[in-house]
Amino acid sequence: MKYKNLIIETNDKICIVKINRPKALNALNVETTVEIYHCFKELENDDNIDVIIITGEGKSFVAGADISYMKNLNAVEAKEFGLSGINAFNAIENSKKIVIAALNGFALGGGCELAMACDIRIASTKAKIGQPEVTLGITPGFGGTQRFPRLVGVAKAKELIYTGKIIDAQEAERIGLVNKVVEPEFLMEEVLGMANKILENAKFAVRYSKEAIDKGLQVDKTTGMYIESSLFGLCFSTYDQKEGMLSFLEKRKATFKSK
Ligand code: CAA
Repeated sequence: MKYKNLIIETNDKICIVKINRPKALNALNVETTVEIYHCFKELENDDNIDVIIITGEGKSFVAGADISYMKNLNAVEAKEFGLSGINAFNAIENSKKIVIAALNGFALGGGCELAMACDIRIASTKAKIGQPEVTLGITPGFGGTQRFPRLVGVAKAKELIYTGKIIDAQEAERIGLVNKVVEPEFLMEEVLGMANKILENAKFAVRYSKEAIDKGLQVDKTTGMYIESSLFGLCFSTYDQKEGMLSFLEKRKATFKSK
């Protein structure tokens, strides 16, 4: 499928998805949220891709939902727009692929919400992150009120959402919102390095770990433990479990086949 506002680059198990509206700092209009949704649905069925990297074209990651687009929406249209973003970001969060956000610049409002739907966030020192929606007279609308407190805790999420304060990459790392901060020229090298490190491991062990973490967070701890034990058991039906354990005992590097 061809996309108007996304650039897709595929390279041996890794797909880079770039949000491409640089003149508007990659602000998300409905056309773009719908494209993100379709892109992730398409990648979900692509067996050649195991890791997806999301970043922004130009100096911004995503500067939020598109304010010019939203300005005159009525309540019903705004609800539909909110849902289009929520559906797109749920497709990312629920993907069986591992998704890494490379925060190359502004990650504000819908941009911060997009980043939070990913598994891992690596930021350049130039990134500026926050949920400034209340300064525009609205609440976060693409999942921010739900994902922010789950990631950084209720108190910090409330402080940042109520004040609309924009923080730098170092502070985002300190509060656990981003995993790592690097100089801008090393951002993609760092992200690709992490992607390749993940790809060295047994594909289904990584995939089931994601499933256990994400599904476990939605249920009580006892049910979460049951999910973990079921997926732990399922690993023993794979070639890679046999190879992983045999290679350890034979003191050699494992050769995984992801089967
Ligand atoms: N929507 C639409 N256009 C945007 C935009 C946005 N969110 N952010 C930036 N732009 C546009 C600007 O209007 C400007 O366009 P023109 O050149 O046509 O005037 C262009 O991008 C460049 O922006 P600036 O000139 O403002 O660039 P700057 O470097 O001076 O400032 C910025 C950068 C601090 C990110 C500033 O643009 C800004 O504050 N943007 C808005 C951030 C924001 O409030 N985001 C939240 C949106 S609401 C939301 O996301 C709701 C939700 O949860 C669903």
